[in-house]
Amino acid sequence: MTKLDSVAAMPDPATPRQALPWTDTSLPPELRAAMVVAAMSQAEKFAWLSATQALPNGDPAPTDEAIGSAGYYPSIPRLGIPAMQQSDASLGVTNPGNIRPGDQATALPASLLLGATFDPDLAHETGALVGREARAKGLNVMLAGGANLVRDPRCGRNFEYISEDPLLTGVMVGQSIAGIQSQHVVSTIKHFLLNAQETGRPVVSSDLGEAAMRESDLLAFQIGIEIGQPGSVMTSYNLVNGTYTAEDPFLISTVLKGDWGYPGWVMSDWGGTHSTAASALAGLDAESGAQWVPDQFFAGLLAAEVAAGRVPQLRIDDMIHRTLRSLFAIGVIDDPPRPGGPIDFDAHRRVAQRAAEQGIVLLKNSGDILPASAQMSRILVIGGHAYCGVLAGGGSSQVTPDDCLQEPGVTIRGEDLPRTYHPSSPLAAIQAMAAGAQVDYLDGHDVDDAAEAARTADLVLLFATEWRSEGLDAQGLSLPHAQDRLIDAVATAQPRTVVVLEIGGPVTMPWLAKVAAVLVAFYPGVGGGPAIANVVFGRVNPSGRLPCTFPASEEQLPRPCQLDPATTTSEPSEWRTHPIFHVNYDIEGADVGYRWFERKGFEPLFPFGFGLSYTDFVLSEIVAIPNENGFAVAVTVTNRGSRAGADVPQVYVGRAGHIGFVHRLAGFRRVMLEAGEHRRVEIAVEPRLLARFDVGRQRFMIEGGRYSVRIGRHAADASLVLDVKLDAAGLGAGPT
Ligand code: BGC
Repeated sequence: MTKLDSVAAMPDPATPRQALPWTDTSLPPELRAAMVVAAMSQAEKFAWLSATQALPNGDPAPTDEAIGSAGYYPSIPRLGIPAMQQSDASLGVTNPGNIRPGDQATALPASLLLGATFDPDLAHETGALVGREARAKGLNVMLAGGANLVRDPRCGRNFEYISEDPLLTGVMVGQSIAGIQSQHVVSTIKHFLLNAQETGRPVVSSDLGEAAMRESDLLAFQIGIEIGQPGSVMTSYNLVNGTYTAEDPFLISTVLKGDWGYPGWVMSDWGGTHSTAASALAGLDAESGAQWVPDQFFAGLLAAEVAAGRVPQLRIDDMIHRTLRSLFAIGVIDDPPRPGGPIDFDAHRRVAQRAAEQGIVLLKNSGDILPASAQMSRILVIGGHAYCGVLAGGGSSQVTPDDCLQEPGVTIRGEDLPRTYHPSSPLAAIQAMAAGAQVDYLDGHDVDDAAEAARTADLVLLFATEWRSEGLDAQGLSLPHAQDRLIDAVATAQPRTVVVLEIGGPVTMPWLAKVAAVLVAFYPGVGGGPAIANVVFGRVNPSGRLPCTFPASEEQLPRPCQLDPATTTSEPSEWRTHPIFHVNYDIEGADVGYRWFERKGFEPLFPFGFGLSYTDFVLSEIVAIPNENGFAVAVTVTNRGSRAGADVPQVYVGRAGHIGFVHRLAGFRRVMLEAGEHRRVEIAVEPRLLARFDVGRQRFMIEGGRYSVRIGRHAADASLVLDVKLDAAGLGAGPT
């Protein structure tokens, strides 16, 4: 069977159609899946329960039928069932190592930057882009949907996650998944649950009580699943409260499949299984990355458990049924991918650039130094390899276009993950926009030279970078490689210094008072260079809002002490032998990020939701409108400046004097307005954000009484407050 045949897996033409009744598209997916399960042999079923990675250069080498990606399950041609070809995912379709000629993909901005747009429509659009490219490569399952909360700003994978807030994360990730699946490609949501740090990820237990979990990390997944209806959920590497998530009956069976009625299949993370019967009975449906699992728990060992009667055959059939149901429901089988189909890379690059433009955050703009005039005589660009590209995060999510600059990065699971710069030069874009100016570039390695050159420039654009990767947490919040010293020296020499940060999460800024402006571009993807230049020169009005709090120092974190690099455990040999250790997330509980800052009365460097604009917005005529969910907020947003731009009014609900009910983001709305325009908008308020989870009753409960409702521009903005009285109500643990 060739790769092309396998994706569609056409049954033998001699097979009479009535012999394959599940090809009738008018039947419900549950029934179609049940019919296939009934027709499958036990060997065919077991071939879909445990799979090794199938990377093009991987070990073991992929079979002929495998396209060569993160995961592969063989086709069943006699039944017309295609192979599952799984690939990463959220930041674009990955092409590990870029080793196959012509295997290109659009590198999207980091998910944190997508979070910063507060724009669910854009999340859907970028998701659909991923789905289209996946189809054109013959891939039918995307390992996308990173929905973990940014609990520790030092986590190495924060750039793959949306935010520190459950509502923003759930809404954006849900729309991104819906976008992927609109192209008849399955998306996962991952990593279920509490994969909040990379340090020791296969041996760390994230410890958190149920109520707090339901109100934070679980809520992000719950909302994401309701909106996106992902075909699959991927468990995490870590343990939760002492149990590996891939064998946790509470998380998989009680909450996900039980309370939430989730009908899809649950796969492990790659090499993230630790048992056979315990995992199968807890509800795990497939074992991924099985080459890192001694003896493959879901192959011969599982067959033996079934034979011994310790795992019922019905459970095996349910695993396969769930998988097939998702494939039918999402259209993977009826409308299979077309390998070799065209990809409009120019159009997709423009989408990536627009996404970056909407998410870049302007944090400081003294004396309106930005937007910069293109009429300057000398601009000095320093650092960040700005001459060639923009930084990308490392690990399984990394897209590697041709012409990337690569430097040594980190070794994970025996694989070298390079530090990669996407080929999108900010310097070239700046030169093109400031055509009359002399634009010089210095790499910034010589601090004195850079400061000296800065002295006589009209404007300095200093690019500072901070690389993060899967498997590698930041050791602190400072910019690495003495870049703080460089910025300080340059800004001392030239106050007209604008710092552009290409970072994978919050950093501290000891030089903040000295610089004129700060832009946060996170990892902006393959349209990053022009996107940054467009914001700098005002062709684009910045509208990004911080998706996570920027602390003033590590001292403000719930766990200020350094993450211990000795427990990194990136080598598989250590995964099953290293002692398990615990991280206590009950310290902050559900009060992640900005909620922790409010609870402790800490003033961050920049709060969640914060971001400046080149225009000036006013919020007025705010009222609460009661409805069956509690209430919504209506507000008039006016752009009283002279440029078009987008504002993001945010609704935070809290209970003064109630311990554990600090203000929580309960609604938001991105509003695009022409200069002088105003619009009345209604912002829906998510009822579960008004509630506490009552573990005894197993439901969200809204307490009757008075609530303080802030409508503002960021989490610490208390300038506009409504007092709202709510009646007591119960919401159930499942879908609202
Ligand atoms: C990562 C997953 C990824 C998988 C397949 C794992 O190491 O944690 O997010 O989907 O690899 O590449």
